[in-house]
Amino acid sequence: MQTRIKELLGNFVRNILKKKNPDEFLEQSQKGGLKKTLNAFDLIILGISAIIGAGIFVMIGSAVIGTAERVGAGPALVISIGIVAIACIFPALCYAEFASMIPVSGSAYIYTFATMGEFAAWMMGWVLMLEYAIGTIAVASSWTGYLIKLFEGFPFLPEIMKNPPAWLTNDYQTVAAANPDLAIPHFLGIPICFNLPAMFIITVIAMILLKGIQESANFAKIMVFVKVAVIGLFIAVGAFYVRPENWTPFAPTGLKGILMGAFAIFYAYIGFDAISTAAEETKDPQKNLPIGLIGSLLICSCIYALVTFVLTGMMPMSQIDLAAPIAVAMSFVGQDWYAGIISIGALAGLTSVLLVLQYGTTRILFAMSRDGLLPPVMKKLHPKFQTPWVITILSTILILIGSLFINMQVAAELAIFGTFTSFVIVCIGILILRKTEPNRERPFKVPCCPWFPIIGIIFCSGLMFVALREVKTSAFLFPLWIVIGIAIYFMYGYQKNKKAIPVQVEKIEETKTITTKK
Ligand code: ALA
Repeated sequence: MQTRIKELLGNFVRNILKKKNPDEFLEQSQKGGLKKTLNAFDLIILGISAIIGAGIFVMIGSAVIGTAERVGAGPALVISIGIVAIACIFPALCYAEFASMIPVSGSAYIYTFATMGEFAAWMMGWVLMLEYAIGTIAVASSWTGYLIKLFEGFPFLPEIMKNPPAWLTNDYQTVAAANPDLAIPHFLGIPICFNLPAMFIITVIAMILLKGIQESANFAKIMVFVKVAVIGLFIAVGAFYVRPENWTPFAPTGLKGILMGAFAIFYAYIGFDAISTAAEETKDPQKNLPIGLIGSLLICSCIYALVTFVLTGMMPMSQIDLAAPIAVAMSFVGQDWYAGIISIGALAGLTSVLLVLQYGTTRILFAMSRDGLLPPVMKKLHPKFQTPWVITILSTILILIGSLFINMQVAAELAIFGTFTSFVIVCIGILILRKTEPNRERPFKVPCCPWFPIIGIIFCSGLMFVALREVKTSAFLFPLWIVIGIAIYFMYGYQKNKKAIPVQVEKIEETKTITTKK
């Protein structure tokens, strides 16, 4: 009896820890793979598409001045931006090493499978859904806000477009919290409350993604051009109105403010890792992936630092707006005409972020389905467009349902937690693979290993720890999400993939590893 229990337990552990050799992934991708069409420039565009969005157009305000729950950094947000850039650069280097070594669709999920085994890989994929799928909800909600702002600028538009009912432009939580007395229509006792513009843009992006990645990349290029041009104009015009006295006091809330500013502005960096999800569709990935990852991160950090300098220099901190900080700054210096242009730029920015987040969602789920952790129907490619059409439609429906229930602020915080967790795991993965497979060919190597991955782990988990103490709802929902993920794995993926792995096989593998090490 005892032997049987031991055997079952041993088998269970071996099953959840079973790894996939990176070569298996490469072989798999060559068989049923996606078209290789992206170059380094496309990847930088994809990165900028993902990085510049609600973070710089909306969150920068609360990162500078703070909210009821947390303090802001003041002009010292520039330092917070530096901290976040450092926190991201180390995981980015780790992503680059992994992506150049295993250039297949699926990103961090695949890297975890190769280093920590099936269960950890499933959990990584599940956590990434916070960053990509739940992140989509947060960005789409901001999209609605800017759309209404844009409509407000056109006097000839019908009143319903400029001032739509709250129940048609928000999730129920937001409406109920903002105005408990509002008359919300009901159907069969259920309140009818949904963010129509957000649902519309999510559906449009899904349709573009169904058509193909090359079309998506072309669309992203236009969006990136518009948003970067708008931000460039803000920096160029705003610089003439900077008054250095506005930069004092530089750090009104000290170190705590700088760290909380870093937490808030981290949202602006979310998504750059999506570049690695495109590895399988990239030409010469060994060279192009590191360029795309590091290049877009550096470009965006410089843009953010410049915007922060100009914004905090243009007006006293107390006057910075929370909802539309950049547009209001231009009105403050008498440049009202610019607010409309900002709305167009913000809409373009948010649209491109949505494109990357929704793209990432489908490619990670595609990889998980290919490994048997999700039903096989999900990995079906469209016969004409060669895109994973089943997963694209299914994930879009789930995101649309989620948007009915999840509040924007909570969705953004959950996305931040998901991202921090994935960064930490990727850094740990690099340390593990350097030990277990020291001789594997690495077209790109993280310099100063193990120190750089360790610094990445310390920065990301430190920021996550600081944030967990400040936020409430998401600090509860994040562990809940993890528990649901564990339950799904044991109900589906584990059952489908479990095998009777004899102990001897493991022993032979161990012997092989020891021999290789010698
Ligand atoms: N980085 C993305 C944004 O700022 C999520 O919208």
